Amino acid sequence: MQLDRILQSQGFGSRKECRALVRDGEVKIGGVVATDPFAEYDENGFTFEIGDWEWEYSAKVYIALYKPAGYECSHKPKHNDSVYMLLPDPLVARDVQSVGRLDVDTTGLLLFSDDGQFIHAISSAKRQVTKSYRATTNQPVEDAQIEALLTGVKLYDDNEPIHALEARKSGDKEIELVIDHGQYHLVKRMIAAAGNHVDALHRYAVGALSMEDGSLPELELEDWCYLRPKHLELLGYKP
Ligand code: URA
Repeated sequence: MQLDRILQSQGFGSRKECRALVRDGEVKIGGVVATDPFAEYDENGFTFEIGDWEWEYSAKVYIALYKPAGYECSHKPKHNDSVYMLLPDPLVARDVQSVGRLDVDTTGLLLFSDDGQFIHAISSAKRQVTKSYRATTNQPVEDAQIEALLTGVKLYDDNEPIHALEARKSGDKEIELVIDHGQYHLVKRMIAAAGNHVDALHRYAVGALSMEDGSLPELELEDWCYLRPKHLELLGYKP
């Protein structure tokens, strides 16, 4: 594929802008400044440098972000900054979308992609990819609350009780729970229905992809990384 087309496909602007990037000496390939925007490259495994970053060509892109508190999962946030501000412009220009949403005050693992099938597969209620959370509670956790989360709590807008796949007391005021649903404020509402209150919420895993078992590169708050085929496999997804 021509270099200008490769750059365009990766979110670096229109073809004209991408040609200008090359002509301005902004693009390096293998450490050498590229000069010909029309040069042909095999895009598979192709890497290039722009600015301080080494980019790699990918037909579809899959990203994991360590979301900090204070960011909304929306392109048009109402009262806070947007999580999309934490991603580099070319990824946003590729129109990556978050896979489901985390509340503004929730921290942890948030996935993004421009692959609609992936987004659907991971967030679809049918496929039931699990999500693992750690909640800091306002009151000491009681065994009865864990029992209620496991057997099912009734939320005011649901007919059927909803239960966690796993729930355990992980500290005096801390609960770890695994769910396979994705409704609005679900964890907070479940814990409220069980008789406690969530003061802070952190998502540490989506499916078998965890921030805490080495299955992902170590991420600091606000950091992101590419998801590789081995990560997608952990999510049960084959592009
Ligand atoms: N459940 C919640 O209550 N909030 C989140 O951000 C995610 C799940």
